[in-house]
Amino acid sequence: MPEARITASTAAPVGSISRRVFGSFVEHLGRCVYDGIHEPGHPTADEHGSRRDVLDLVRELGVTTVRYPGGNFVSGYRWEDGVGPLEDRPVRRDLAWHSTETNEVGLHEFAHWNAAAGSEAMLAINLGTRGELEALDLLEYTNLPTGSALSDQRAANGSPEAFGVKMWCLGNEMDGPWQLGHRSAEDYGKLASRTAKALRQMDPDLELVACGSSGRSMPTFGTWERVVLEHTYDDVDFISAHAYYEPLDGDVDSFLASAVDMDRFIEAVAATADAVKAEKRSDKTIYISFDEWNVWYLTRYEQVERLKGLDNWPKAPRLLEDVYSVTDAVVFGSLMISLLKHADRVRSASLAQLVNVIAPIMTEPGGPAWRQTTFFPFAITARLAQGEALRVGIDAPTISTAKFGEVPAVDAVVTHGDEGAAVFLVNRHRTEPMTVQVVLEGLQGASITETHMIADDDLDAANTLEHQDRVQPVANDTATIEDGLLTVTLPPVSWTAIGLTRGD
Ligand code: AHR
Repeated sequence: MPEARITASTAAPVGSISRRVFGSFVEHLGRCVYDGIHEPGHPTADEHGSRRDVLDLVRELGVTTVRYPGGNFVSGYRWEDGVGPLEDRPVRRDLAWHSTETNEVGLHEFAHWNAAAGSEAMLAINLGTRGELEALDLLEYTNLPTGSALSDQRAANGSPEAFGVKMWCLGNEMDGPWQLGHRSAEDYGKLASRTAKALRQMDPDLELVACGSSGRSMPTFGTWERVVLEHTYDDVDFISAHAYYEPLDGDVDSFLASAVDMDRFIEAVAATADAVKAEKRSDKTIYISFDEWNVWYLTRYEQVERLKGLDNWPKAPRLLEDVYSVTDAVVFGSLMISLLKHADRVRSASLAQLVNVIAPIMTEPGGPAWRQTTFFPFAITARLAQGEALRVGIDAPTISTAKFGEVPAVDAVVTHGDEGAAVFLVNRHRTEPMTVQVVLEGLQGASITETHMIADDDLDAANTLEHQDRVQPVANDTATIEDGLLTVTLPPVSWTAIGLTRGD
C-alpha cells in the first residue's frame, strides 16, 4: 500500500484560526430564504416564521457568521423594501435570479433568525446600482442608537436595540460582467474607498471587505486585486475571494485536487495584497475573506437561463439545488483543509450557501430538513479545529491531474488548541488506499478521542428526500497513536478527521 509521511509541530504554527472561517451565506436566491430558513406555515415554524428544524441543523453545523442578503441579488436590492409592516412591503422583480422578491424577509427577520442560529451577521451593501448615501442609510438603520430618522424608524419597526453589525461587504463580485453595475477595478476601487470612508465616519469600528475576484480564472484576476487595493488599502480590512469547483468534462482527478487551486488562489491574493502593502510602505496587513466557496455544478446553471421572459418571475423557484455525492464531500473537506492551512491570511470564510441553494441543508415545504454529504466535513471541522493551525510537511505519492500537474495524493492540516488537537486528512487517489504516518512534534502525550471518515464503495451515493441518511460519517478504526506518531489508513477518495487530546 502506498505510504505518505506528514510532519507538524506545535512550535511551528501558521496562525490562530479565526472562528469566522466557519461562516456561511444566505442569499435571496431560489429557496434559500423562502421555504428554506423561512416558512411561516411549517409545523416547526417559530413566531417569526423561521423553521426550527432548520435552525437546529444550522447550530449543529456550527456556523459562526452568515453573509446576507447576496450575492448577485444584492446588486439590485433596496434594503428599505424589507422593513416595516409586511403588508406595505413592495413586490419586486429580482434581475439576478429572474425571480419575484416579496420582501417578506428583510433585516428584522434576518436579525431574529441570526440570533436564534447563534451566528454573527455579515451584511453586503449594494454597490452595483446604489452608492454611498444608501450605504450610509443602511448603516444608520442597523447600527446607530435611536435619535436619528432611520434608527428611530428601526425602533418603530420593533427593534429599539441596534443590530450592531460589524462586518460589511462593499458590494458583490463587482469584477463579474454578470453583476448589475459591474465596473472596472479602477471605478470600483474609487467607489469602495469613498463608501468605506463614509461608513467609518459614522461607525469607525466596522470591519470592511472589498470585492476581490469572482474566481482565479477571471481574466482580470491579480490586476483587479492590485488596482482595488491601491485605492482602498487604508480603508478596508479584507479583500474577498470566491471559488466554486466541479468536475469538468469528466476530469475527476483535477476535481479531487481542487484545493490546489484554492491554495494557489489564496497565496496569489496574499502576495498581491503584500505587494500593495510594500508600495504603500504600510504596516497594515490585508486579510482574505473567502466569502463564497463550495462545490457547485455550475454547468447546471442554465436553469436560470430558462427563467426568462417578461411574464415568468417565479417566487422561490428551485434553483441551484445541487445534490452532493461522497466525492463532492471529499473535495469539500479538502477545501476546508486549504482554508485552515492559510489561517494566517484567511480570517473569514462563507460556505455558499446554507439551505437548499448549493447547500449542506435541504428542506421540503411542509416536510423534512436533512443533511447533505457536505454537511459532515463542515460540522466536524468547525467543531474540532480549535486554536492554531500548524504548518505541515507532506511527503506523499502524487496523482497526475490535467489542470494542476502532479499533486500530492494526500493533503492534511493539524490544529492545536486548549481543548485538544485534530488532524484532517484527504486521500485524493481514485484507486489506491494510503497509509499515512503523521509525526506530531509537541503532541507526544496525545491520545485519540474520536475519528470520522467520509468514504463509500459508491462514490456517487448522496442523501436525498427519499434516502436522507444514506451517507453518514463512519469511524476510521485504523487510526492509532503512540508517542506522537499517528498512523492511519485512508481509503481511496476519502476524508478523515481525528480528534486528539492536547498532548500534555
Ligand atoms: O452563490 C451563488 C452566486 O455565486 C452568488 O450570488 C454570486 O455572488 C456568485 O456568482
